[in-house]
Amino acid sequence: MLLLYMAVLSSAFSGLLLLNGGVMVEGVAVKVTGNISKIEDASYFRIYYGNTFKVIKNDLDGKSYLLIQSNSKMAAKTKYCTPRIKSFVIPLANFSMDVSYFPVSFFELLGLMPSLKGITSERIASPCLLKLYNEGQLQMLNKSEPQQFSQYTAHFISYNSNQQTQSCNYVAFVPIGEQTPLQRAEWIKYLGVFANVETRANEIYDAVKSNYMCLANSAASKKLKPIVAWMEFNDGVWTFTKEAYKLKYIEDAGGENLDESINKITYNITTIEDMEQLHAILCTVDVLIDGTLTPDPFGYNATLFLQNLNIEDQSCLAFLSHESVWRHDKRLSTDLALDWFDGAVSQPQLVLADLMEMLFPTGNYTTTYFRNLLKGEEATSLGLENCDRDTFTAMEPTIIACT
Ligand SMILES: *[C@@H]1O[C@H](CO)[C@@H](O)[C@H](O)[C@H]1NC(C)=O
Ligand SMILES: *[C@@H]1O[C@H](CO)[C@@H](O)[C@H](O)[C@H]1NC(C)=O
Ligand SMILES: *[C@@H]1O[C@H](CO)[C@@H](O)[C@H](O)[C@H]1NC(C)=O
Ligand SMILES: *[C@@H]1O[C@H](CO)[C@@H](O)[C@H](O)[C@H]1NC(C)=O
Ligand SMILES: *[C@@H]1O[C@H](CO)[C@@H](O)[C@H](O)[C@H]1NC(C)=O
Ligand SMILES: *[C@@H]1O[C@H](CO)[C@@H](O)[C@H](O)[C@H]1NC(C)=O
Repeated sequence: MLLLYMAVLSSAFSGLLLLNGGVMVEGVAVKVTGNISKIEDASYFRIYYGNTFKVIKNDLDGKSYLLIQSNSKMAAKTKYCTPRIKSFVIPLANFSMDVSYFPVSFFELLGLMPSLKGITSERIASPCLLKLYNEGQLQMLNKSEPQQFSQYTAHFISYNSNQQTQSCNYVAFVPIGEQTPLQRAEWIKYLGVFANVETRANEIYDAVKSNYMCLANSAASKKLKPIVAWMEFNDGVWTFTKEAYKLKYIEDAGGENLDESINKITYNITTIEDMEQLHAILCTVDVLIDGTLTPDPFGYNATLFLQNLNIEDQSCLAFLSHESVWRHDKRLSTDLALDWFDGAVSQPQLVLADLMEMLFPTGNYTTTYFRNLLKGEEATSLGLENCDRDTFTAMEPTIIACT
């Protein structure tokens, strides 16, 4: 008995040592039973399968997560918590999460809500999570008292969380660290591993990816490529986005990014030279996305945009004459939590479909995440009444008609 345990443990360790040495191994044990996930697109995590355990190597927090099957001998005897290795017994009996800017939708798609027991804020975009909280299923945890998180098998955090991330039960879930929309969406497999629901994770990713690719392929056949500027206004300065996943969205939607032709990205509206240049560049733009952060998305309208833009002679601005200025804050909670940071991360096909309608308007598709400022479209607030399923039931991905 002890020998067997030692053998498993040492094979787990040799696997980890190999991983920590940066060597790719194809899984440390030979006989792998159950369902497995293979990574196709994501860059920042890897999964290795053993017989009674799995290892996730997360390259964004630099940690290896050793996940031990609850029905194995190793489960009762093994506990690691070092700066580089943490162990968990799976499937997770229960977990909590730090919900600010956190894509809860991944958990909803996998059907993991029954094991979610604690959250850190009521400021959440997901209507069904709000409903779950309202039904008394969730404990409200105080972020200033991290010891409250220790009562759960795992506590999920996002990369940018400013809490100390060394606690033994913390798991960093960081799809937003990836560079492309599909790479972000593939993190559903990372979660699937913790719950032994690889099959479901694979199915969802396949459905999302094939829908996304179908849309992208149909956009690729468009001959004319509208020029898109995705920009933000902050402290008197307009900045064109450098975020890789946004630029990729524009390309995949059949548009052309501005940044390929210019190298200056910031423009101070009080500087005449800057404004001359910005004016000239914007004269080439067909579609403008205003990603300006604002404490009041409901009050952010065309008047405010034009005021920030500060360009008097608007005669050459095609995005104004064609009424194509958009913001990605259409879906948000009454507490101003944007679904852009939640649902849009796990279902990039919905964002792509929006962008295609923005670039090639048909007039018969209603966008999910983007609202047209110039047409006076307002943000829609989400409440628990917008939850359209039983809170414990898994969410199904929304597939866009595509031929
Ligand atoms: C793997 O997934 C398939 C399809 O969902 C299922 O039929 C099978 O029982 C699963 N195997 C294990 C060992 O979980
Ligand atoms: C979470 O699960 C663990 C393991 O089963 C258990 O010991 C713990 O009491 C549970 N915590 C809560 C808050 O239910
Ligand atoms: C959260 O914890 C802090 C520090 O213990 C405390 O000052 C604060 O009142 C708590 N907040 C709530 C809402 O309970
Ligand atoms: C913008 O330009 C003005 C005038 O030159 C300057 O005072 C201000 O600091 C600049 N703003 C930023 C954010 O650089
Ligand atoms: C935009 O909001 C401001 C302040 O609420 C309001 O005065 C203005 O009329 C609005 N503009 C449009 C175009 O609705
Ligand atoms: C939407 O509009 C396009 C272009 O006008 C048209 O080809 C397509 O059939 C329409 N689709 C639906 C579902 O009405």
